[in-house]
Amino acid sequence: MQPARFRILVLNGPNLNLLGSREPAVYGEETLETISDRLRAMAPELGCEMEFFQANGEGEIIDALHRAPATFDGVVLNPGALGHYSYALRDAVSGVGLPVFEVHLSNVFAREPFRRILVIAPVATGVIVGAGAMGYELAIRGLLAQLRR
Ligand code: DQA
Repeated sequence: MQPARFRILVLNGPNLNLLGSREPAVYGEETLETISDRLRAMAPELGCEMEFFQANGEGEIIDALHRAPATFDGVVLNPGALGHYSYALRDAVSGVGLPVFEVHLSNVFAREPFRRILVIAPVATGVIVGAGAMGYELAIRGLLAQLRR
């Protein structure tokens, strides 16, 4: 029997559309499109399906999370700066009842003090920081391992 193919939503918040040109020393030189294309190509090997969504507005990210349970089994979320202060996004994560893995490309704990506060992390399934673009793959693998358990 074929193992179940889980459906994963990869959700990126504000300013992540600027990856590639935005502070490359901090976030790397890869664009979000290249990262997404690479992940999409890995989907068959990982045994999942993936969709990608990026928005700069907090409400759009929250709306995408609200829609997610209808289509997806889990979410990989880079909330950008919203991860440091958005209680509304935190409530959406705990409210939708899907496993959500949080990702930050940079090591937020080694940067400005405000970035050391992660308000969504306590309600996330897991958190990956500082692994660069590979963090998305690690989070997808972590999410799938949890879904298969
Ligand atoms: C980020 C870290 C945040 O502090 C920042 O506001 C971002 C990107 C990261 O992926 O490292 O927008 O989430």
